[in-house]
Amino acid sequence: MPAQHLPVLAEFAGRIDLKADAVVVDATVGAGGHSSIFAQSLTRNGVLLGLDVDTNCLAIAREKLAAASCKVLLVRSNFANLAEVARQNGIEKADLIFADLGVCSAQLADENKGLSFSQNSKLDMRLDDRLESTAADIVNRRDEKGLADLIYGLGQERASRKIARSIVQYRQKKSIDSTAELVNIICQALRCDPNSRRSKIHPATKTFQALRIAVNSELENLEKLLSDAPNLLKTGGKIAVISFHSLEDRIVKTNFRENKAAGVYEIVTKKPITASRDEQKENPRCRSAKLRMAVKV
Ligand SMILES: C[S@@+](CC[C@H](N)C(=O)[O-])C[C@H]1O[C@@H](n2cnc3c(N)ncnc32)[C@H](O)[C@@H]1O
Repeated sequence: MPAQHLPVLAEFAGRIDLKADAVVVDATVGAGGHSSIFAQSLTRNGVLLGLDVDTNCLAIAREKLAAASCKVLLVRSNFANLAEVARQNGIEKADLIFADLGVCSAQLADENKGLSFSQNSKLDMRLDDRLESTAADIVNRRDEKGLADLIYGLGQERASRKIARSIVQYRQKKSIDSTAELVNIICQALRCDPNSRRSKIHPATKTFQALRIAVNSELENLEKLLSDAPNLLKTGGKIAVISFHSLEDRIVKTNFRENKAAGVYEIVTKKPITASRDEQKENPRCRSAKLRMAVKV
């Protein structure tokens, strides 16, 4: 059974005003949670185009959206290729482009993906299994400075140098193949107990974040999505992006500001929308979620 995925900021998503014949692009359809909320506003003249790189997620979404009244198009693709996918599916302009970045609960729970430090599995981290390089390739091949820069730059981990040194020392004896090996290496470098409750976050959180972002080129893909969005949006069309860490949020914030300065967008959310306390209690994934929305003028 896949872990249940609760859509983040669902209430806000439900308040995005959509006409019955709207064209909605969900760039990260995932388990179909947000898409099924959007689909409730659409009738048979509406279109929902959902993209995801992960075939398991698309299968879950397909089931969830089976009863939708609108036309549903689900495509296995990276959202970096959204312009091309929209064209191939006969979509010229959209009323909404939505992206809920990061990973689904089902992906975190999936042993084959190796995304979680809470369970031991192969150190992989590819959301799209067609990608060539895994997290194991990075930790086993990159030089010490390259690793430290990556862990600092994409994980904002202050102890990046210590962790990089420990990784390089360990792999002189044996390659790093599993998530548990990497967790142990990080904990030894930081001289901490992974089960200790002294810190709010697990000691491996930031390093795992950095590796996942690097393996999946997450920031480059987001930049591409944001740069393609204005051409695909109708005048009055909206773009809404939910991000989960400051690197993503900064990219979205900067892009919206630049487009506002260029007269392309009006920013709807002066400050990002965050989850209420109740929603955070019910769905811990919401804690770091920030939604920003802009409208094409
Ligand atoms: C947080 S989940 C989305 C959950 C979805 N909103 C829901 O309510 O079920 C993020 C999804 O985006 C997908 N994803 C991540 N990066 C992607 C990319 N560059 N292109 C397409 N899909 C991507 C992941 O595979 C994952 O299924």
